[in-house]
Amino acid sequence: MSQGWTRRSFLTALPLPLLAGSGLAQDADRPQYHFLPPSNWMNDPNAPIWFKGEYHLFYQYNPKAAQWDTMHWGHATSSDLLHWKHLPIALAPTPGGSDKDGCFTGCMVVDGGKPVIVYTGVNPEVQCVARSEDLLTWTKEPNNPVIAGPPAGVDTPGFRDPHVWREGNEWRLLVGAGFRGKGGTVLLYKSNDLVKWTYLKPMLIGQKLSGPADPVASGEMWECPDFFPVGNKWLLYVSTQGKVLYWLGTWKDDVFTPESDGVLVHGAGYAPKSCDASGKRRIIWAWLREQRSKADQLRAGWSGSMSLAVVPTLDGDGKLLLNPAAEYDGLRGKRMREAAHDDCCEIHIKLDGMKPFGLLRGGQEVLGFDPESHVLSVGRSEAPVPPGRLDLRIFLDGSVVEVFANRRVWLTGRVYGERRGLSLRGDPRSIQSWPLTPVSRDRLTT
Ligand code: FRU
Repeated sequence: MSQGWTRRSFLTALPLPLLAGSGLAQDADRPQYHFLPPSNWMNDPNAPIWFKGEYHLFYQYNPKAAQWDTMHWGHATSSDLLHWKHLPIALAPTPGGSDKDGCFTGCMVVDGGKPVIVYTGVNPEVQCVARSEDLLTWTKEPNNPVIAGPPAGVDTPGFRDPHVWREGNEWRLLVGAGFRGKGGTVLLYKSNDLVKWTYLKPMLIGQKLSGPADPVASGEMWECPDFFPVGNKWLLYVSTQGKVLYWLGTWKDDVFTPESDGVLVHGAGYAPKSCDASGKRRIIWAWLREQRSKADQLRAGWSGSMSLAVVPTLDGDGKLLLNPAAEYDGLRGKRMREAAHDDCCEIHIKLDGMKPFGLLRGGQEVLGFDPESHVLSVGRSEAPVPPGRLDLRIFLDGSVVEVFANRRVWLTGRVYGERRGLSLRGDPRSIQSWPLTPVSRDRLTT
């Protein structure tokens, strides 16, 4: 790699969105191929489903402001995983109902051909059901809440985010919880009809860290469990301690036996949720949290982006691989043998893993590698990588940065502000990049 071009800066090749009028449509920090709502606050992905040939993505949404408050379920659909159409709000709190203070995270199953949402109502945290014929109009189950509180004798700091799946002729449900003073857990239930649930046992129990007072931050409480087969194993993940922990193992006769563990997504990514796409592959989305002040989020008028759709698979040794869905390749323009675009692009960089490296945008580091600590960084986010060569797939999109290292390590972060061209610190073994075509003309504001 010649020194000549590594020091050079390159100007943006893509035009800014042309739509006049909306400030959000011209906000260069808003992504152009990651999903996000037209405006205001989004957090967890909820109940993604592939139904009648279309993907449906729901999400925790505050339609009133770019800050977390009384939760609704936003809704969007796509036929190709890339281009999204915003749909009306799917779930809103019912005054006087079990979800009067918010419709929290949940999942979807199809029962007798009809979609059913299982989600958490607050306060207190209880599990609720809503049914639909067309995914647009939802009728809440008259018997809500279907689970009115934690099992007797379980003293938990929280009780939320149900995940349901079919097990033979029955249903199984995991709900995020914790044993106070001990550690986070997922509680396992069974049912024949999605309404009457029988508690079975905690499926796995973690270890609370001393330090943080907040139960989710300390690991005393696990949020947003998800559990499904990958290859011949089962993958469980939960969100806690500001990160997403996973276990790969076996599942038999209602017993999960973990065999390996790790962090599913590092950095901004949180509360991931998956979708079974026609039984052929599993697709995971994570909420990419902002990494700027609340005041800046309110000023911007939007907060939160969805990650890329990521497909988990196993390698020959049964270890977890994480890669963006192949659909994103379809957005690529002409390949360049340099880091020629500073936004809305994909860059592949190979490093020998022995020397420091940085990818800078307008003087700000968007990606860094430290060979001493073997840490890869993106803005404020960090992930450890194993010693040796690094093969990096980097996605830049407004303020969103996602990196897939050696097809195993998924690192996400946010870098705001300057778009004054890319430059490199250090010499990669090779580099190539593609501009990616924006999936909407106005940064998904309509
Ligand atoms: C995770 C979470 C969930 C909860 C939702 C509320 O980010 O705290 O546990 O259901 O967000 O918006």
